[in-house]
Amino acid sequence: MRVPLLDLKLQYTPLKPAILAAIEQVADSQTLVLGPQVEALEKAVAAYTGAGHAIGVSSGTDAQLVLLMALGIGPGDAVITTPYTFFATAGCLERLGARIVFADIDPATYNLSVPALKAALEQTKNVKAIIPVHLFGCCADMESICALAARYNVPVLEDAAQALGCAHPMGAAGAIAEAGWYSFYPTKNLGAFGDAGMVTCRDAALAAKIRSLRNHGMEPRYYHHSVGGNFRLDAIQAAVLNVKLPHLDHWGAGRRARAAYYKKAFVQTGLDSVLGLPHEPWADSGLENHHIYNQFVIRTPQRDALRTFLSEAQIGTEIYYPLPLHLQECFKHLGYKAGDFPEAEQAALESLALPIFPELEEAQQAYVVEKLREFPHP
Ligand SMILES: Cc1ncc(COP(=O)(O)O)c(C=O)c1O
Repeated sequence: MRVPLLDLKLQYTPLKPAILAAIEQVADSQTLVLGPQVEALEKAVAAYTGAGHAIGVSSGTDAQLVLLMALGIGPGDAVITTPYTFFATAGCLERLGARIVFADIDPATYNLSVPALKAALEQTKNVKAIIPVHLFGCCADMESICALAARYNVPVLEDAAQALGCAHPMGAAGAIAEAGWYSFYPTKNLGAFGDAGMVTCRDAALAAKIRSLRNHGMEPRYYHHSVGGNFRLDAIQAAVLNVKLPHLDHWGAGRRARAAYYKKAFVQTGLDSVLGLPHEPWADSGLENHHIYNQFVIRTPQRDALRTFLSEAQIGTEIYYPLPLHLQECFKHLGYKAGDFPEAEQAALESLALPIFPELEEAQQAYVVEKLREFPHP
């Protein structure tokens, strides 16, 4: 048996006629950049998440970048975020000359630790934003984070790249705080046929600024009020996403069912005593989508040996992420060193993502569990 980490063809096949028809419609219209498909997607995502405004852009990375630009974040401004995330979260800050301030993670959820955030806020001058990341499809502790941010009068910007469809008691991931963003990279919960992303925000004036900066700050044509970029969303990507969005909740339910299968099987087989399982901090909220399992991440000190063992058994896995951001070569100048964020560093050594996607079959999951049992855990 072969169990890939993810198989996008299985999602595409049943939707192929609808997707190809939508692409053909765009081709026939020859409105290829922005336009009605993008506007329809923006409305649909705003309605789905409850966000006040949604602005379609070229990627999740560009969504964050254009939002930070619209907020005027730049040299001298400190922004607090997690070192245990995809590179873009910090990369966008560096590109604007902002000062990246990392705060460690909570080892159970992999999300920004509230005590660490509190300490960072106490020690840092000129904080202009806090960026929690809803990693792997589960929200950070937004209640505590937003309360702390309010005390310091700092906006919270949600990196919900991995969390579209995830619910939290305070609202939908990415639409809880002042602003946020989603990625529609193909492997995300809602994947385009290439790169695409979306910014969300509460404030109408901020939304208008983002719309303008998305298109070089141009208004009217060839007159520029401010320097933006080409962050426009292609109509073909929006058309594909418009076909897929109505299926998102069903896919989310499929992901959760597969996560529940793993968890139950791990408990039944005793694997839960040797593997760290994903934590569900909002399980008692009554919300079904409290964890949307963009990734199902386990932990073990034998991570690398286990990965090799699973790979030899034709089981795909991935490491998110092998090197925390504070130890990346390009951030040397920030002056961080090994030991500064022990929880992020430990997670980077121990975490392993198992195959999870809505079409994953029970026999494949049973095979993954069987191989995990065969591995000689100490
Ligand atoms: C947490 C996080 N932030 C930001 C991004 C950037 O999104 P994109 O790849 O669409 O630019 C990603 C995507 O990989 C992500 O996982």
